[in-house]
Amino acid sequence: MAGTPALEIRNLEAWYGESHVLHGVDMVVQPGEVVTLLGRNGAGRTSTMRAIMGLTGARKGSVKINGTETIGMPTHRIAHLGVGYCPEERGIFSSLSCEENLMLPPVLKTGTAGMPVDEIYAMFPNLAERRGSQGTRLSGGEQQMLAVARILRTGANLLLLDEISEGLAPVIVQALARMITMLREKGYTVVMVEQNFRFAAPLADRFYVMEHGRIVEQFGSAELDEKMPVLNQLLGV
Ligand SMILES: Nc1ncnc2c1ncn2[C@@H]1O[C@H](COP(=O)(O)OP(=O)(O)OP(=O)(O)O)[C@@H](O)[C@H]1O
Ligand SMILES: [Mg+2]
Repeated sequence: MAGTPALEIRNLEAWYGESHVLHGVDMVVQPGEVVTLLGRNGAGRTSTMRAIMGLTGARKGSVKINGTETIGMPTHRIAHLGVGYCPEERGIFSSLSCEENLMLPPVLKTGTAGMPVDEIYAMFPNLAERRGSQGTRLSGGEQQMLAVARILRTGANLLLLDEISEGLAPVIVQALARMITMLREKGYTVVMVEQNFRFAAPLADRFYVMEHGRIVEQFGSAELDEKMPVLNQLLGV
């Protein structure tokens, strides 16, 4: 594929203190692609997202966002390039209402406008109903939607989503799947870490599999069937 990738990672290494957790990760994501990062517990998927954001300790190698090298940049400058990171812990402010949480983030100068609140509510009708509810009163699924919606408010166009389906009821997981499909239709680039292979399989254009801080497999959705035996072995799915 031609053009500048939305995300281009070359030989990325990262540490937490003395602990070397990423050992040369390579990953290229084109604008508008939905890519899933699979792997067993402790494979290094969250660390990869954190390293993209400059949130690990030392990191080495190359991470380009829309062609701009970020390896020497602090986290806030990386975010300003249009990267939205949704960590596993979601970070919803419990003392603020749903709508106050939505109004919180600054709008970045990314070239993509922050999604207007009415468009957010059209996309997430649950959040519209719950706009006045306190953060703590939202269900796990509503909090997850709010966490993603809050990122869309900033105008981020590269979304890093860490295990958004984890621990949620099947009906909520289905709603999140529809959300990913809508985001793809709107042209967002999505990198999602998933343990839930059934959730990720129909959504992703391409798959990467990590093991021990390295990418050990990558393939497109057309190859999914033939890769199932390898995936079974690597993930135990
Ligand atoms: N803050 C930290 N300090 C030191 N080591 C860490 C830290 N966070 C993670 N690690 C280690 O880094 C490795 C990769 O962890 P990571 O969280 O990236 O895995 P993961 O693929 O997201 O898996 P899971 O989410 O299932 O735990 C593991 O060996 C883990 O113990
Ligand atoms: Mg993780």
